[in-house]
Amino acid sequence: MVFDILTIFPDFFLSPLQEGIVRRARTARKISVDVHDIRGYALDRHRMTDDRPFGGGEGMVMKPEPLARCLQAIAVDHDRSSIILLSPRGRQLNQETAQRLSQYSRLILVCGRYEGVDERFRDRYVDEELSIGDYVLTGGELAALVVIDAVTRLLPGVLGCSASVDHDSFSRGLLKHGQFTRPRIFEGVPVPDVLLSGDHRAIATYRLIESVRITMDRRPDLLATARFTADEQRILKKEGLLEQVEAIVQESRSKLSHPG
Ligand code: ADE
Repeated sequence: MVFDILTIFPDFFLSPLQEGIVRRARTARKISVDVHDIRGYALDRHRMTDDRPFGGGEGMVMKPEPLARCLQAIAVDHDRSSIILLSPRGRQLNQETAQRLSQYSRLILVCGRYEGVDERFRDRYVDEELSIGDYVLTGGELAALVVIDAVTRLLPGVLGCSASVDHDSFSRGLLKHGQFTRPRIFEGVPVPDVLLSGDHRAIATYRLIESVRITMDRRPDLLATARFTADEQRILKKEGLLEQVEAIVQESRSKLSHPG
C-alpha cells in the first residue's frame, strides 16, 4: 500500500510515521508513505497556496491549481487508488471504511487547511471526502495520520496476529471487552477469577457479556449492526441481555423512522 500525502506542512509527518507499528510496516515494506509539499506546485513567485474567498467571509481558501498540479505529478492508477480529501464536511471514518480503504493499493490523502478547499478541485479530482469526527481541526494532517494508522494495521502481515483485527472494537458492532494483565491484584483490585480459570468457553462467555454490556452503556447505536450466533443468543438470553439489546435496536429503528 502506498500512501501519498498532499500537505502544506510536510514536516508534520516526520515523527508520527517513525513510531510503532506504522514504522515497522514501513521498514517491512508493507506500506510506503510519500509526502508532497503542495507549496512546491504553486504558480506564483510567492508560492501562494491559499487566497481569500469569493463572496467574502472569514479566512482563506486553498487554491485549486497547486493541488491539481501536485496530483498530476503523482501517476495515479484510478482503478486501484482513491483520492481522499480530509475535511470536517466528509463522511465520518469508521472501521468499515478503513476495511474498504485497505483494499486499495494506493491512497492519496489531501490535507485541507483554512476555511476549506476550492470546490472545483473537490468536484473534479476528489473521489471521497472523509472526516474523522464531528469537531473541527486546524487542518487535515492529523486526520490523514488517523487514516494511515487505521488502514495500515488492517493490512495482511502488519499485526502479528490477524485474529486481533477480527476482535477489534467495531469489527462486529460491539465494543471490545476490558483487558487485564499482571499483576493479579492492583491497588487491592483482583483480576476477574474467570480469566485465570483456563476455561476458554467460560472466558469467551464472560467476554461476550462484557462486550454487550459496555456497548449498551456507551454506544447503543452500534448494536443495530451486531449479529449473534445461536450460541451467543442463548448466552445473552440467559443473562437477560438479549431482550435489552433487542429493545435498544427497536427503539433506535423507531427513532429513525419517526424522528422527534
Ligand atoms: N479537517 C478539519 N477538521 C477535520 C476533521 N474533523 N476530519 C478530517 N479533516 C479535518
